[in-house]
Amino acid sequence: MQSHQPDLTPQDEVAARFYGRLDRNLAVQRTGDGLWLVLGHPEAVQLLRNRTVSSATRKPAAAGTWNRLSARFFIFHDAQSHLRLRRMVSDCFTPARLDLLKDEIRRSAAARLGELAAILATGDRTDIMETVAYPLAAETICRLLGVSPAEGEFLGEWAVALSRHTDDEQFDRSAEDVLAFFRQQLALHRAAPQGAGLLSVMAERAGAAGVDDEELLATCILLLVAGFETSANFFGNMLLSLLWHRERYEQLLADESLIAPAIEELLRLHTPAHVVMRRTTEPTAAGDTVIPAGVQVGVLLGLVNRDPRVFADPDAYRLDRTPNPHLSFSLGAHYCVGASLARVELDALLRAVLAGLPNLALCEEQQLRWSGRFLGRGLERLQVLAA
Ligand code: HEM
Repeated sequence: MQSHQPDLTPQDEVAARFYGRLDRNLAVQRTGDGLWLVLGHPEAVQLLRNRTVSSATRKPAAAGTWNRLSARFFIFHDAQSHLRLRRMVSDCFTPARLDLLKDEIRRSAAARLGELAAILATGDRTDIMETVAYPLAAETICRLLGVSPAEGEFLGEWAVALSRHTDDEQFDRSAEDVLAFFRQQLALHRAAPQGAGLLSVMAERAGAAGVDDEELLATCILLLVAGFETSANFFGNMLLSLLWHRERYEQLLADESLIAPAIEELLRLHTPAHVVMRRTTEPTAAGDTVIPAGVQVGVLLGLVNRDPRVFADPDAYRLDRTPNPHLSFSLGAHYCVGASLARVELDALLRAVLAGLPNLALCEEQQLRWSGRFLGRGLERLQVLAA
């Protein structure tokens, strides 16, 4: 196993190379290639709450299914165009709907952990990303949309192909496949609405909200790409930290009331999405700096979450940070619409792991490797065994 402590930033080579070039004492700075970066917490809060700052950061769309669809992702829209689509989704996250999802996710997590425990009981080791994190993240998106997990079994694979984009041909094929899948599901949900599933609800409301089918299908795909890998990646990062520092795992085994603050503190320390991008439309204040109009700005959430002006002893794991104002789910108009669902999912999964596998341990001899992307920070594999 690598010798570094997996709580120190930067943890992986991609981030290390990038962070190594920055002056950590400057809360706002400009890079050689004209990109502006925000590293400070108060400056990030100010910028993300500023309604004149735009999220329309995509380059003008080229041809291709993916480009056509992603141009409709509301994460890249501003003002009314953003709200119209976001509301269709956020209105469905009622407390009653979340309670229902919580029960379903808890059952799925318990079933996955049962399978994992059976494998580990034979003395085998296994990759917990493959056996638990990815399948459960895919099931969660299916349940949110109201798609049966059996029908949606390929969603996880497509989401990985779309977010990693290692091979153009595979990428286009995945975009076509996922679009065809949701088109077919939409027709099914229109023909026979399925209760509170998001697809049925959106299908019913789309007309009145002035949302066409292409926007509706793009929104399903956005939920998949925004919600799948972030949750799965973070689960791996969280488990690595808890098992590497075994006393943290033991602490949660002894006292369940620490689970919620532990998840928040690990979201802060192991920020899953390291950067969110914005574009200024007018000269914009961020702390003492005025960022000029018409430039791209990257808000480095991983560093913002360790700003010593806001978090005392910022590299330390502390369960007594109340409040814990980390920005791992961003802030402002684009605050993660799935944050409450992600918290439910992570809580269910961690509880199931603690209850079913108190003796879970990391395999000593593994080489930890993070995926090569800066944005989606996740482990490629995490080998575990029963100690
Ligand atoms: C640990 C898990 C997750 C993390 C760390 C995370 C993080 C984020 C971040 C940082 C943003 C803000 C982007 C910005 O400011 O430009 C965001 C937006 C978003 N997230 Fe999440 N997310 C997670 C889980 C989920 C889940 C489970 C879903 C849905 C099923 C989801 C759906 C979305 C959507 C649709 C947006 C766009 C919101 C908007 O633009 O209004 N996320 N997420």
